[in-house]
Amino acid sequence: MVEIKTMEEIEKMQKSGKILRQALELMRKNAVPGISTKELDKIAEDFIRSKEAIPACKGYEGFPGTMCISVNDEVVHGIPGSRKLKEGDVVSFDSCVLLDGWYADSAITVIVGKSNNEKDKKLVEVTEKALYEGIAQAVVGNRIGDISNAVQNFVEKNGFSVVRDYTGHGIGRHLHEEPSVPNFGSKGRGLLLKEGMCIAIEPMVCAGNYKLYTADDGWTAKTVDHSNAAHFEHTVAITRNGPKILTE
Ligand code: MF3
Ligand code: CO
Repeated sequence: MVEIKTMEEIEKMQKSGKILRQALELMRKNAVPGISTKELDKIAEDFIRSKEAIPACKGYEGFPGTMCISVNDEVVHGIPGSRKLKEGDVVSFDSCVLLDGWYADSAITVIVGKSNNEKDKKLVEVTEKALYEGIAQAVVGNRIGDISNAVQNFVEKNGFSVVRDYTGHGIGRHLHEEPSVPNFGSKGRGLLLKEGMCIAIEPMVCAGNYKLYTADDGWTAKTVDHSNAAHFEHTVAITRNGPKILTE
């Protein structure tokens, strides 16, 4: 069932979203050469707890960190650890915050330090723009397929590929609710969007082929061809005034 949220409930999700946004901006600022992903994870966890909120990825189905930190050919669900970031690494940060019973979910991708790799820079730019192409379709009367199609079209037009194995999702009192929000599909297909629906739109984009495998840690999703990947995500409410981003 797709849960419809009231304006008050959407405002609560926005409070979770604001804390998450600040945690992600801390990641952007601290993602410098030499820092380990575990150190970054601690910065995020300490910050979220300092706001009396719960880092909700931690322990979710056994995930050990606050932040999913996925480097280069890792697409999503990278586990924070002793590995240190290097100049030019393409790093995705994805996390969720629970406050007062309501979830927010968001992700960004950054390039560490200075990079001369034009393809990596384009990958990050295209993935972020694809997210906004998707969000623009999150309006009353459209269907999920309109979002999916906008993301896929934009990504493929730019020469990259969209992940099939993971999707966006409804969100609210639970991190993952119905409907599923794929990053590929056809216009005019799927669930009709109504006022009060809240969804996490999250393009995961590969520079090469979209085929993935799961690493031996049981979590980290990586590209089979070892091409780099990027991931951006916002939690979005569908309102009569258009899409409302709850994680900015
Ligand atoms: N944005 C991710 C998702 O929707 C959050 C995963 S939390 C994890 O799947 F802990 F399970 F990794
Ligand atoms: Co998500």
